[in-house]
Amino acid sequence: MKANPGGQIDLKSVVGRDRLIRQIWEIVEQQSLVITAERRIGKTTVMKKMAAEPQRGWMPVYQDLENCHTAVDFAMAVYKEVHQFLGNKGKLTRRSKEFLEKLGGIEISGIIKLPEKSAASWKDLLTRAIEDLIHENDEGTKLLFLWDEMPFMLMNIRNGEGEQTAMQVLDHLRWLRQTHSDLRMIITGSIGLHHVLTSLKEKNYANSPVNDMLAVDVPPLAEGDAAHLAGLLIVGEALKSPDRGMAATAIAKEADCFAFYVHHIVRGLKMQGWDASPESVAKVVTQHLLDANDPWQLIHYRERISTYYPNDQKAVTLVLDQLASQEEAAAVSVLLSMLKAAMPFDDRDSLIRLLSLMERDHYLKRDEAGHYHFRFPLIRRWWKMNRGL
Ligand SMILES: Nc1ncnc2c1ncn2[C@@H]1O[C@H](COP(=O)(O)OP(=O)(O)O)[C@@H](O)[C@H]1O
Ligand SMILES: [Mg+2]
Repeated sequence: MKANPGGQIDLKSVVGRDRLIRQIWEIVEQQSLVITAERRIGKTTVMKKMAAEPQRGWMPVYQDLENCHTAVDFAMAVYKEVHQFLGNKGKLTRRSKEFLEKLGGIEISGIIKLPEKSAASWKDLLTRAIEDLIHENDEGTKLLFLWDEMPFMLMNIRNGEGEQTAMQVLDHLRWLRQTHSDLRMIITGSIGLHHVLTSLKEKNYANSPVNDMLAVDVPPLAEGDAAHLAGLLIVGEALKSPDRGMAATAIAKEADCFAFYVHHIVRGLKMQGWDASPESVAKVVTQHLLDANDPWQLIHYRERISTYYPNDQKAVTLVLDQLASQEEAAAVSVLLSMLKAAMPFDDRDSLIRLLSLMERDHYLKRDEAGHYHFRFPLIRRWWKMNRGL
C-alpha cells in the first residue's frame, strides 16, 4: 500500500474500521446518526466504505454537500443524485420530474434546472426526490443517505440565506425522517453540528431538529490497527527498516493513531530517503511540526478558534497555552485562577461551559479526577511549538 495522506484511498486500503462500521449499521436499523469527530480522523473514509459495501437490505447514497450554498442547491443535488442513481437502474424520477416540469424547469443534458423564481419550492423537490427513490426501490430495501459536510452546508445556507432557511432545512429533514419509517440519514462533517445549532439558537430557534438522531464519535484507529497500517505502508513504499514492527509501533504512537498522520509520516520517511526506525520517525514528526508550510494543516486548530468561540478567543487560547505548558492535567480551579490573573474573567460557570465545548471540539479531555488535558498529545506538542511555549 502506498502512502496517500488526504487523498481518496482505495477501499481495500481502509484499515481497522470494520467494527465501527458494523456498529453504525446496527444503530442505523433503529435510528439516524450524527457522526462527530476531529477533522482528518477518517469520517469520509468510513462513510464511503459504508456506501460501497452496504449491509443487506440497505441502499446507501453518499453525497458530499460541501459545494451546496443554498437550500435549492441541496434539493437539486439530492434530485440529481437520485436521478442518476435510478437512471443507472433503468428507472425514472417520475415524481420529481413531473414537479419540476410543472415549475417550468429546463432540461439540460438529462438534468432539469430549477428556475430562479421557484426557489421556495426546494422542500417539495427534496420530498419528491426522496419519495421517488423510496418508491422505485426494490421491495423491502431501506434508504440511507450519507451526507458528508452537512454542517458546512448549513453554515453556508445560514450565512447566505439566513438562520430561518438553515433551520427549515433541518426541520424538513426531521419531518422526512418521521414520515418515512424506512429512511435513515447519517450526517457528518468537519465542523461540529453543535456550532451551527448554537448559532441558530442564538437567533431564537428553539427546536431540537436532531434530537431523534444518535451522536456517535469516530475515534482514531486502535493502536494495533494504526501500527498495522504503518507496517503496510512501510512495505508498500519499500522502506528499509532494521525492525519493521518497532518502527510501525513508533509511527502509530507518534501519529496519535490518526491514519492521516500515519500516511504522512511514511511519506516523509520516503521523501527523506530514511530507513524506518523509531529515531527517524521522531525526526520526521518534529520536522513536519516545525515546517512553515504546515503539511499537516495543524494551524486549523488555532484558526478555527475565532469562528468557534467568537466571544472567548482569549480565554480559550490561554487555557490551551496553560495545558500545553504543564505536564499534568489541570483542575478547573487552577484554570480559573490562571484566567483571573491574566484577564477579566471570574466566572466559574462560564469556564465550565467553555471547557465542555472545548471537549466537544476535541481539544480537551477530562480524566477521572475531572482534570483537563489535551485530547491528542500530538496536537499539544504542535501547540507548544507553534506558540513558542
Ligand atoms: N481506515 C483508514 N485506513 C487507512 N487510511 C485512512 C483510514 N481513514 C483515513 N485514512 C487516511 O486519512 C485521510 C483522511 O481521512 P478522511 O476520511 O478524509 O478524514 P475526515 O473525513 O475525517 O476528515 C485519508 O485520505 C487517508 O489517507
Ligand atoms: Mg471528510
